[in-house]
This record gives sequence, C-alpha cells and structure tokens, in this order.
Amino acid sequence: MKTENRDVVSIKDFSKKEIEHILTYAKKMVPYAKGEKYTDILKGKILSSLFFEPSTRTRLSFESAMHRLGGRVIGFAEPSATSQKKGESLADTIRMADAYSDIIVIRHPQEGAARLAAMFAESPIINAGDGAGRHPTQCLLDLFTILTEKKNIKGNKIVLLGDLKYGRTVHSLAYALSLFGAELTFVSPETLKMPKEVINECKEFGGEPTSTANLEKAVKDADVLYVTRIQKERFADMAEYAKVKGAYRVDLDLLENAKKDLVIMHPLPRVDEIADEVDETPHARYFQQVWNGIVMRMALLSLILGATE
Ligand code: CP
Repeated sequence: MKTENRDVVSIKDFSKKEIEHILTYAKKMVPYAKGEKYTDILKGKILSSLFFEPSTRTRLSFESAMHRLGGRVIGFAEPSATSQKKGESLADTIRMADAYSDIIVIRHPQEGAARLAAMFAESPIINAGDGAGRHPTQCLLDLFTILTEKKNIKGNKIVLLGDLKYGRTVHSLAYALSLFGAELTFVSPETLKMPKEVINECKEFGGEPTSTANLEKAVKDADVLYVTRIQKERFADMAEYAKVKGAYRVDLDLLENAKKDLVIMHPLPRVDEIADEVDETPHARYFQQVWNGIVMRMALLSLILGATE
C-alpha cells in the first residue's frame, strides 16, 4: 500500500483499498491519542502548518497529532504576518516551507490551492481545506467516526444537511460514502444544493442519491444525520446570505421521530443549526468526531512520513 510520501489533496486520489488501509491503521492510534501509550516515531520531523484561512479544529488537531508522535510544528495561522503581505507568491511561500520542513499542511481560501502547492513542493502536501473545494482529512475522520459508531458504512441511510453548494466537507464525504455503498439523501435550501458534478461522482459507484426539502421525513429514516453550517464567508452578496440564514435547525422537536440509534455529526463550527439541547441527547457525536480528528491526523502523518507503529 503506497501511502508513504503521498500528497493528500483530494479523497478522490485514493482508492477504496487505500482508504480502508488508512481507516484500519487509524484504530492503532487511539491509545496514543488518548495518552495511554507514548511514541516518538516522528522525532526529528517538522511539519509546516500554513493556514491562510481561520481554523480551530484542523489546525490544532494537526499540531496535537504531530506533538503526540514526537514531531515539531512551525507555521502561521495569520497570513498577514508573513511575506505574502509584501507580495510574495503562494508558490514561493510553499518553496520556503518545503525547505524548512518534512511535510506541509495548507488551508487556503482558493479552490485548487493545495493542488498548486503540491506542484511546487518536494515534501508531501496535505490539503486542510481549499475554499469550497475539498477537505480530505475531514472526510477521513468522518468515515472513521461512522465506522466506529455503526460498524460499517454500506447500507446506512445518511442525510447530508445544510450548505451543500459551498460545503467542502460534504463534497469529499458524499463521494467517499458513495464509494463505500451508503444511501445518501441531500437536504438544503434551494440555492445551496449539492453541485451536479458531485452528484455525478456519487453515481459513478451505482449510488442513487436523492434530494428533498422534507427534513422531517429524511431525519425519520436516517441512520446518520450530517449537519453543516451555512457559510457566510462564501457569499459574495450578503442579501443572498440573508435569504437562507436560519433556513433549518436541528432541535428536540425535529428528533422526536428519529431512530433511537440515529447519529448526528457536524464538522463544526456550528452557528445556530444545531440547538444546544441536542448536545445532551445520545444522538450527538460531533464532539467525539472532533476527537477522532486527532486519531486520523496522527495516522496520516505517521503513514505519509513512513514511520508506523
Ligand atoms: N471542521 C473544520 O474544518 O473545522 P475548522 O474550520 O475549525 O478547522
């Protein structure tokens, strides 16, 4: 299985077998992520963490993962403090990080930025989110969460709710869930529907994703409800944002007829699309999902840098 020295730009770059290999290996990382076992397999390795867009979970979990494996982290979370401010190009910034480190994690507002970075770096590039494009490590940790909670992915009825147009997490996830044989239902405001291109990708694997505006019915049948935020920052026109703001909300009333073992996930951050009262229900798994992010990122760093437990 060739995972060593790989770029992780899109989940589509990985075969089903390769994804299964990563998911299986990730289980080994659980006791290390919990701090029950210790390792320094990445001692001497340096990760460049280049965040051109805000992040809490992805940036901190990559840092945590690298530290837990004995490696070190350099980088920035605020591009205005870098020489980009003086006009330096993305390509040159990447060349610098390449010279200073062994692996580069990049988040950038521009779709395709991670693919571009991979062209200028010898070191592996991990896409931590590129605009409305892809977020492959989120996808892997989401798959890991569903597998942990449901034991398998195939046959599960999974509802993707929210901003399906700009939501990069759901673009990667819809593809991967179809690859693994899940039954998908998309629920979104009319103007934020899943792009045709992503729907066609899902159909490549024989999946028949359906779209509906009936959230109550979709939730009633669902095994997993994956909620996303409407991303204000992706709208050029705030009047358009105002039209869809608050269009849906997951609360106790909505969950009244849900299956007992319904699992609710969210890549976070949330704004108002999941009521706080849902946190206390047995359905809520979004905080466990966050923790799984460390497990998955430890697994990826370890596999890509060729130092496995
Ligand atoms: N899920 C996710 O990508 O969160 P952050 O934007 O906080 O990294």
